[in-house]
Amino acid sequence: MPRTAIVGTGHWVPARVVTNDDLTELMDTSDAWIRERTGIEERRWVESGTTGADMAVRASRMALEDAGLAASDVEAVVLATLSPDHFFPGTGVFVARELGLGTAPAIDLRAQCSGFVYGLQVSDALIRTRQYRTILLIGVEIQSTGLDVSTDGRDMAVLFGDGAGAVVLQATDEEGRGVLSTHLHAEGEFAEILWGDAPASWRHPRISREDFEQRRIYPSMVGRDVFRHAVTRMPEVVGEALEANDLGTDDIDLLIPHQANLRISQMVQKRLGLSDDQVFNNIRKYGNTTAATIPIALSEAVREGRLGRGDLVCFTAFGSGFTWGAALLRW
Ligand code: COA
Repeated sequence: MPRTAIVGTGHWVPARVVTNDDLTELMDTSDAWIRERTGIEERRWVESGTTGADMAVRASRMALEDAGLAASDVEAVVLATLSPDHFFPGTGVFVARELGLGTAPAIDLRAQCSGFVYGLQVSDALIRTRQYRTILLIGVEIQSTGLDVSTDGRDMAVLFGDGAGAVVLQATDEEGRGVLSTHLHAEGEFAEILWGDAPASWRHPRISREDFEQRRIYPSMVGRDVFRHAVTRMPEVVGEALEANDLGTDDIDLLIPHQANLRISQMVQKRLGLSDDQVFNNIRKYGNTTAATIPIALSEAVREGRLGRGDLVCFTAFGSGFTWGAALLRW
């Protein structure tokens, strides 16, 4: 059975930098509060007119170039987002169209902040079972246009950013390379702890003035509960992945946790007993870009020379649903 290797990485973030100080002009907050609670200093927000597909295409082109492959080599697209450009069809078809992928299938996947890890499991299964040899896996998010940027929405608005990350996955028979295993979980009992209520297909109509008045159009969260579950579930699922492969935390060369909040990542690191050079964080610059955090961070880590052939890389994520997961791979 072939294994799945990451043979190219890429990312793209909008040029518009929004600093914590910029946010103080929109809402009652402060640079000190945001830094202290989240580790975020700035984030990127899209200019009007930029779509998720635009960002995904740019990240994908970079990943394909890195892999030394042409778009025509891609046999399928797996795209994770919670902020599709349209209610339907999914963003994947627009990306495939722009890249000129012909009739390659586009699989859109909804697992919020865990979207990239979920997408990796789906792609890995498709490659191992020889359905496809080369898959483009993308995480992309536009959060900024959905946030309440007044003081009423400050708990959410300061956290999120926009961006895209992509990886090219390919079947490999190379010894000591590729995905070792992926581990996913979900617990719908907590669906409303972190969610976007509207628009909702079951309401007549799907979106109404009432949704605006009652603020249902904005994402909402019970921050402390999210924090508590995240710092429990991520170490737990990393442990599950290590155990499945007879490995220990000392074997991890680089952990790339979903960038939700620096305090969450630091607690995950502490609970796993990892050193600073075993963990990659870039939330300071981008905030939480949801499904895009891990592929953006991976792309940066590669370009900073943080990964060498054979290194053990671990991804872990936690998000709305709740959903969470981990993956282990040899670089
Ligand atoms: N600026 C200034 N003050 C803010 C604020 C902001 N952006 N957001 C909230 N506050 C205020 C609150 O109104 C509250 O004021 P009060 O005590 O007068 O009521 C106070 O700060 C403390 O709020 P609280 O929510 O208890 O803060 P916290 O210490 O729990 O930190 C989070 C809030 C959001 C940083 C934290 O809960 C968190 O990181 N949760 C996880 C969020 C996350 O990662 N979500 C995505 C997961 S994928």
